[in-house]
Parts: sequence; C-alpha cells; structure tokens
Amino acid sequence: HPKNLLRSIMEDGECLETIANQHIYSADQFDQQTLLQLFRLAAKYEANPDRFSASLRGQILISAFYEPSTRTRLSFESAWHRLGGDIMSITDRSTTGIAKGESLADVAEMFNNYGDCVVLRESNESSVKEMMDSLRIPIINAGNGLDEHPTQALSDLYTIFKWRPELAQASPEHPIDICIIGLPAKMRTVRSLLKLIAKFSTAFNSVTILANDTEENIFSAGQKEQLLASGLTVNVSQSFSDSVANADVIYINAITWEGDTFQEYGSQFKLDAKTKLKTDAIILHPLARGEELCASLDHTPHNWYFAQARGAVFLRQALLTCLVRRTQRVLDII
Ligand code: CP
Repeated sequence: HPKNLLRSIMEDGECLETIANQHIYSADQFDQQTLLQLFRLAAKYEANPDRFSASLRGQILISAFYEPSTRTRLSFESAWHRLGGDIMSITDRSTTGIAKGESLADVAEMFNNYGDCVVLRESNESSVKEMMDSLRIPIINAGNGLDEHPTQALSDLYTIFKWRPELAQASPEHPIDICIIGLPAKMRTVRSLLKLIAKFSTAFNSVTILANDTEENIFSAGQKEQLLASGLTVNVSQSFSDSVANADVIYINAITWEGDTFQEYGSQFKLDAKTKLKTDAIILHPLARGEELCASLDHTPHNWYFAQARGAVFLRQALLTCLVRRTQRVLDII
C-alpha cells in the first residue's frame, strides 16, 4: 500500500525547489532527495485517489503526442484533470503547422501564449531540447526517440519502492537484484531507469542485463560506467532461465513497434506463468506489451506491471504539482 512507502521516507521538502518551474528532459536531473519527495507526494495522492484537487485550476496543459501513446498521454491528462486544470491535446502532428514546415521554435513560441505546461512525445531525439530554447513554460519529455522517457522511469522506481518501501531508506538491509531484458542502449525507458537506479545504488545488489549481443551494442556511451561509478555490480548474461530465476525484479520491454531492438529477442526471451521465478519476484513492463509478456501472468502475484501503470497517474500528479505550482504549495500538501 502507498501508505507503507509514506511511512518509510523522510519528510524534509526543501529539495523540491530543484525542479520547480524546470523543464524535465532527463532522469539525470533528479537527485535522491528530490526523488524521495516526489514519491512521498505521489504516495499521498495515491493513498487518497478519490480526492481531486483544484490546485491547477485555471492552468492549461498542452499535451502534444506526435507518436502513439496510451498510458503516458492519458495518465498525464488524468493527472492534470485530478489537479483541476484544463487540457489542449494534440495527437496528430499533421493537424499543426509542423506539417507545413513550421519550426519547433515557432511552435514553442506559440505554446508560451496558449498554455502553462507542455508534455511532448516526439520520435526525434532533439525536439525537446529545441523547444526548450524557446519555451518560457515547463516542458516534460514524454519519450524522445530512443533517448529517454524520464517520467516512465520515475513511475518504475516509485513502483519498486511501493513494493519494498524499505529500499527507499539510506542503507536497506536486503538490497535487490534486478534483471533487465534487452538492450539498454536502445530502450528509452531503460536508459532513464538506469540513471535513477545509479542514484539509489544502495537499494540494488546487482543489475543484470539479459541480452544476446556484444557490450558495444548493449550499452550506450557512458551507460555502464555510470552504473559502475555508483558502486553497482553490473552483469551481462545470455542465460534466460538463470537470470530471471535469480532476480527480485524483472524488467521486460515491448517488441511491438518497428525500431525496438527487443524485436530480435522476442522469440527467445518470453515470460509466462510457467517461467521459473522467485516466489516473491515482481515483473515490471512499461507496456504496451507484445508476446514477450504472456497474459497468463496477469493473475499471479508477479504482476506489478498494472500497478506500475496505475501509479504513473499519481507520480505525474506529484511531478506536475512541483513543476507548475509554487514550491510552498507543494510543502503545504506534503
Ligand atoms: N509506457 C509508455 O510509454 O506507454 P505508452 O506508449 O502507451 O505511452
């Protein structure tokens, strides 16, 4: 229950200043204290899911998704509604001036006039940063190509801490082993998650990457070094059965869309109810899923991927509150 997480993390709120009115483009931006405060606020919202607030009344979210999305767009919009704000949603770039060749800088300049915050999903990695240069309202990266998906990673770590709240403490007694299936270099959710894991190295005993490839293809520049520098043990394995059987958390990703490198591994690395896992192991998946994650797992205790998607609403409520409201208002809430 989110209240267990609330009980386990500290109460000081000063660190929220670090993200007030900021653009959010990378998981690298979050320090450990800010993460804990965000999770604390998210847990507060999640513990009272029926309590809607008016803290963003009169504020407008520009929700611009130039790539398909179910969870990210709708959970951001749900979060904004729950905070009492209004939304303008763009789900097809061909309906905007971009289709006529308008520059992102000009679009961003217009966004300044129409809204109070932008959430952007774009297949082009550089679009978020291009818009940042012209925006005077916060923009949140909701997935930029293969680069990052920072708010997904926030939701992922929030889920892990809800499952084992003691991991959020400074020196957890039983750090966990996480197995990530696929190529971190080419999965934006994993790229962001590994950055957050590096900030909580005391919570993780080891990170195992399950992939049939060379290290050059598995890791992007500096990715493994960042993990090692944080003190984490990093393993690369090709043995599906050993890796998943020894993990406390198994993070698997989709094979559904072209360009996702998991496509190559989908036939080899599949989880279903017959897969041998630790009794209390959990499976995380950012969804949408393909055949790599069988529905036979949905009604087992290993299924934390639906909780992961649900928690994202409250996590995004917390993030939006911090970005768009004055920090003092956040401190009043938490
Ligand atoms: N997790 C995630 O990014 O899902 P969507 O593509 O549905 O937004």
